[in-house]
Amino acid sequence: MRTHFAAARTVLDLGFGAGLWFWASFLSSLKRLDGIDASPEALEEADRVFGLREVPAGYRLAHERASSTFTARDLDLLRAKRGRFFFLDYRAPWPAEIPRDHYDLVTEHGGGFGQMDADQQVVDAVGQCARILKPAGRLLFVNFVMTPRRIEKEVGKVPAPSFCLRQSLFEDAVARAGLSMVDFHTVERPPDMPGVETFFYGFARR
Ligand SMILES: C[S@@+](CC[C@H](N)C(=O)[O-])C[C@H]1O[C@@H](n2cnc3c(N)ncnc32)[C@H](O)[C@@H]1O
Repeated sequence: MRTHFAAARTVLDLGFGAGLWFWASFLSSLKRLDGIDASPEALEEADRVFGLREVPAGYRLAHERASSTFTARDLDLLRAKRGRFFFLDYRAPWPAEIPRDHYDLVTEHGGGFGQMDADQQVVDAVGQCARILKPAGRLLFVNFVMTPRRIEKEVGKVPAPSFCLRQSLFEDAVARAGLSMVDFHTVERPPDMPGVETFFYGFARR
């Protein structure tokens, strides 16, 4: 993140979940962070970090490993970067308040690309990311490829979506969005995550 995104000022995090501020803590030039998530509870949970008396151990450890530091003062500064948050399923068209050609960086860290239920949804979501990026803006992704399956939800026995993401689909979605893949890495499945086949991460640019 330090090498490729040190200059990113305007950022949108897709499927931000509770990890919103953790990832943002590595963006040294951040001015404003917006986000989309289906769940308002995700933002409440993410914001709990600002009520803590000290920097969480996980932040400290991750910054130490990246040879940086992150202090309580940095946490205060991060809070001031809070932008606009949209609570919607981002597979639907995005509202006009998320402007085209506006963001230096869009991030998606396990924020739902791995849980779409049709190839076209992945293509459309990456396409929407591309449209809101500035020329030369970047899309950072950290995805996990799940073993395809259908799960019966306990309540009401409604079948949950199967998972369709795979490397070739993601690469195709990036190309169809008019983006260029710059960096792509694959990490083999950790032994303690049986439902996950592969992780991949990297970034594409407009
Ligand atoms: C694993 S969680 C959090 C990931 C988070 N980016 C992080 O690094 O901690 C995935 C989040 O993505 C959101 N999400 C998944 N699919 C989504 C969709 N289609 N539209 C909106 N939000 C979605 C979920 O609501 C959830 O908060």
